[in-house]
Amino acid sequence: MCGAGGVAGAGDVLLASTFRGVWPRAERIASVRFMAEMTIHEALYTTRAMRRIKKDPIPQDVQARILDAAIRAPTGGNSQNWQFLLVDDPEVRGQLGPIYRSCIEMLWKSFYAERIAAMEADPEAEASREMASVLKSANWMARHFEDYPLLLFAFIQGDPTGGSIFPAVWSAMLAARAEGVGATITSVMMFQMDDVLKVLGVPTDEEWVFACCVPMGYPTGRWGVARRRPAHEVTFRNQWGEPLGFEVPGPLWKGDS
Ligand SMILES: Cc1cc2nc3c(=O)[nH]c(=O)nc-3n(C[C@H](O)[C@H](O)[C@H](O)COP(=O)(O)O)c2cc1C
Repeated sequence: MCGAGGVAGAGDVLLASTFRGVWPRAERIASVRFMAEMTIHEALYTTRAMRRIKKDPIPQDVQARILDAAIRAPTGGNSQNWQFLLVDDPEVRGQLGPIYRSCIEMLWKSFYAERIAAMEADPEAEASREMASVLKSANWMARHFEDYPLLLFAFIQGDPTGGSIFPAVWSAMLAARAEGVGATITSVMMFQMDDVLKVLGVPTDEEWVFACCVPMGYPTGRWGVARRRPAHEVTFRNQWGEPLGFEVPGPLWKGDS
């Protein structure tokens, strides 16, 4: 996409023109070049819960590209019945931090109580190690909640399945990944929704439903391929219980190295 020797080529200019008026030309071309460096497969395979972040702010042009990509996502009937809310005000983040911590404690004591007990009973089991790693990382987020420079809240109206909001949330995370910005979906604040709605000033008579909050920031660590159960273990073909017919033992995208 870039011309030889780092000179912007026709493709750069074409892409950069898409963003004309949003931010200055030089920055525009540099940013477009950065985006063009990541393939869709790298973004798909390496976008994951990135909780350990720096306090550095996320510039508004980066925020613009994340949101503009996110709102290309589909909604049922193209109703776009969503509302996003960005929080970067330290005062508001300061009010949300204690709520988040209180909610995560409730999560560990409720939905995760059994898994945590199993982890403590057999810490060397693979599932226990995975759980311990999620716990450590999630508790880090809770302790540092106020430090995330940007929180993206996603709300939806009239969507009982919730299917119309998460495509946009995931697109925001992929777009953030392309910008080098880490992000994590969090839903735990639903435990104290009334407090959250009050802090954010969300009208309570318009049936807005909280989908999630996505804390974002520049990561301290590196991205790796997400570890998951392989596709053939979680997919049937034609009839429930029937095998897929092929196996995918490891990630098909392994990076450039
Ligand atoms: C619907 C949903 C809700 C989640 N809620 C939280 C949360 O409240 N707090 C948190 O730290 N992580 C939360 N996560 C992040 C998951 O723990 C994370 O995506 C999962 O452990 C996989 O992490 P990985 O992609 O880094 O492998 C949530 C993820 C999803 C999809």
